[in-house]
Amino acid sequence: MRNFSVVQYNVRYFTRYANYNGVLLGAYRTDMADETITDKKSQHGEWSSRFAFIMAATGSAVGLGNIWKFPYITGENGGGAFVLVYLLCVLLIGIPLMMAETMLGRRSKENPIHTMEILTAEAGADKNWHYLGWMGVGAGFLILSYYSVIAGWASAYVVKSFFGSFSGASAGEVKAIFEAFVASPMQLIFWHTLFMVATMLIVARGIEKGFEKSVRFLLPWLFALMVLLVGYAMTTDGYFQGLNFLFKPDFSKLTADSVLVAMGQAFFTLSVGMGSIMVYGAYLPKDVSIAKSSMMIAGADTIMALLAGLIIFPIVFNNGLHPNSGPGLVFETLPIAFGNMFGGWLVGILFFVALVFAALSSSIALIEPAVAWLIENKGFSRQKACIYSGSLAWVLGLGTVFSFNAWANVKLFERNFFELVDYLTANLMLPIGGFCIAVFAGWIMKQEHSKHELDLPGEHLDYQIWKFLVSYVVPAAVFLVFLNVVGVL
Ligand code: PFF
Repeated sequence: MRNFSVVQYNVRYFTRYANYNGVLLGAYRTDMADETITDKKSQHGEWSSRFAFIMAATGSAVGLGNIWKFPYITGENGGGAFVLVYLLCVLLIGIPLMMAETMLGRRSKENPIHTMEILTAEAGADKNWHYLGWMGVGAGFLILSYYSVIAGWASAYVVKSFFGSFSGASAGEVKAIFEAFVASPMQLIFWHTLFMVATMLIVARGIEKGFEKSVRFLLPWLFALMVLLVGYAMTTDGYFQGLNFLFKPDFSKLTADSVLVAMGQAFFTLSVGMGSIMVYGAYLPKDVSIAKSSMMIAGADTIMALLAGLIIFPIVFNNGLHPNSGPGLVFETLPIAFGNMFGGWLVGILFFVALVFAALSSSIALIEPAVAWLIENKGFSRQKACIYSGSLAWVLGLGTVFSFNAWANVKLFERNFFELVDYLTANLMLPIGGFCIAVFAGWIMKQEHSKHELDLPGEHLDYQIWKFLVSYVVPAAVFLVFLNVVGVL
């Protein structure tokens, strides 16, 4: 333990020093690299097992992005072709990036900003790379600000379900309930506050106690409820229409912007591009396979999103609703099922409770990069770090609250506050972050180091495929999609 602190002190001291004299540090770090960095443990502790890591990272990935966002943006972007692009992005961009991020975090065992400082020093690279860590912390804040508001909606829907608000309700009544709810800023603020406080409390308790316990039991629960709801959707007349909408590509509906949205969603749903997974990687013991874990996490995440689609679109078509009704889609459709299916009262309550927990395990990941940074670099206590970062995100969240009522028509670039923050984070910051992480892992980091961390079994082929994807495919794809959006292509 004592040795460990000395190593940490050294790493920190020399990383700081690098800011003044990168050349000297570059030389020093190269020869201290393998024994010191890789033998170090995070000061926040480690996951107790590979399973605990997979559950927590899956908890970060599975959340509102799968159940709330995926269906409504699929609805807005025309269905099948959009889903296909999204799946391709998960496979070719998301998984390699998740591996890269986990690897970077595990190598340095520090927060994202510090990780980039340490690893650039190790690679003898330009110190400006650490701004990448900054962008991640910023994106986390911005996402958390609106994430908490929407998770607040889900929390309110637990109570509404409990009091039987949806029992026997028609599609029109369910829509009216939603509209009345979002029209009231006070109600939205109340639930937003509750959710943010819950996030801060969990994170303040620290990694092991806080994260692991809450995530373990709720994901299987959510999965089981979703399978049950797919069963219900199959009994409706809209099922095949829903299936067609989701899986039959109509490429004429695909625009440059919808390709960007699909790519952004792949980043958002897997929680990559902002250092969140880096933080989780920092707590990952050395003997866990990064490749296998990443594939399992991405697989579970994708299944959850597709299940959500399989539930929601049949209900949409069965009730003559429109797939493109925006962020309210889930809240305007699922309660119809709960109000009309056998046992729907209980299923509704359990579903929204599980959704709130899934959102909590994601919001924890959103706030953790900032908290870890405040603790490690600013000497804050965990509690104080949580209070500062949570409160700031809460204030920003008020902008989203008002986007659904008082400020609904206050627009910049044709987008209200919520839409702007969402676009800025999911469609710009995360892909740019992912682009930089890919370039760093593929081009800047020494090959022997990435090979050592990834430790892929079929060494040559597996490693070469990953290396090719992060070095060429990810940067090129992000770049081309951006060019396409600005109209150059
Ligand atoms: N992946 C989460 C979801 O799909 O709901 C959202 C998210 C969590 C994004 C954590 C980014 C992140 F770091």
